[in-house]
Amino acid sequence: MQLNILVLPGDGIGPEVTAQAVRVLEQVARKWNHTVNLKEGLLGGVAIHRRGVPMPPETEALAHECDATLLGAVGLPEFDHVAPQRRPERGLLGIRKTLGVYANLRPVRSYQALLDSSPLKNHLVDGADLIIVRELNGGIYYGTPRGIEGAGPAERGFNTMVYTRAEIQRVLRMAFNLARNRRKKLTSVDKSNVLETSQLWRKVAGEVAAEYPDVELEHLLVDNCAMQLILRPKQFDVVVMENMFGDILSDEGAVIAGSIGMLPSASLGDRKPSGAYVGLYEPVHGSAPDIAGQGKANPLGAIGSVAAMLEYSFGLLEEARAVYAAIEAVLNSGRVTADLKPAGPPATTAEVGAAVCAAI
Ligand code: IPM
Ligand code: MG
Repeated sequence: MQLNILVLPGDGIGPEVTAQAVRVLEQVARKWNHTVNLKEGLLGGVAIHRRGVPMPPETEALAHECDATLLGAVGLPEFDHVAPQRRPERGLLGIRKTLGVYANLRPVRSYQALLDSSPLKNHLVDGADLIIVRELNGGIYYGTPRGIEGAGPAERGFNTMVYTRAEIQRVLRMAFNLARNRRKKLTSVDKSNVLETSQLWRKVAGEVAAEYPDVELEHLLVDNCAMQLILRPKQFDVVVMENMFGDILSDEGAVIAGSIGMLPSASLGDRKPSGAYVGLYEPVHGSAPDIAGQGKANPLGAIGSVAAMLEYSFGLLEEARAVYAAIEAVLNSGRVTADLKPAGPPATTAEVGAAVCAAI
């Protein structure tokens, strides 16, 4: 198979972790006789430096040409005080929007080898296996009007949280389909005791549920969900929510996995005529500029994102499973980065990448 992939290394630790993810992809291609055609593009802070904007038009064009996009991370502290529209993060929001990847799948699972890396008691996390489905193209991240206006005590900042029925339906269907192929339980998260968007969300979730009689739907308020994720993570199978709730709760999910460096993600849009999803794949962790360039970053979130790409954008299930199994083998070997509390001296980013390749 020809795998035409755009790589957007981005900022901070992004280039280091994507280098290892690409290495794993090439190992898979060697073993199963696929051809990887890589293109590289600029996104985020590096794009602002080199091209003056967070998402240059050529990056956007490449993303539409390629079969799938692998992203590292964006964000640099030098932009901390810059207006939102000129920040590196705007590049990330731009690429998500232009690709139309409206469902962000963030799987969270516990690994035997990492039970002690989680601050939670072993019996709470052991066996936890859930997927957070975060709506990614709408809500308060994109809603207008937005801005800061006026001056003095009356100066005001404002954002708009808005969802249409169609936007809610499509992400709910994605989540129901996932649940149907798992343990058949879907939790829809909202704040319907306060927000109108959430009231519509809950109503539409109930309607879509009629198409999936085999899946159990429950509704949970987002504040309670934040607590339940820590109290009883094993109760969850697929959990679906709007954009900002998903941003917040998926970082909380990292506590279950043991490190945010472990979490992969797949952002999916509609299916192409071939049946494959339009997909953007990125680790959940950020650019971590404090450890950039030191070989300390955990590449397993990025490598897991490659596995997700093989699965969703190319339908290569055997290859994807081999990558997941190799990740687990490396975790069991204890040769892991410092965030995972290794027994001996921590492995470097590149050593972990090499170990995953060897296990494949
Ligand atoms: C994430 C990140 C991004 C988001 C930032 C970097 C814009 O936190 O992917 O979770 O808020 O979506
Ligand atoms: Mg986040």
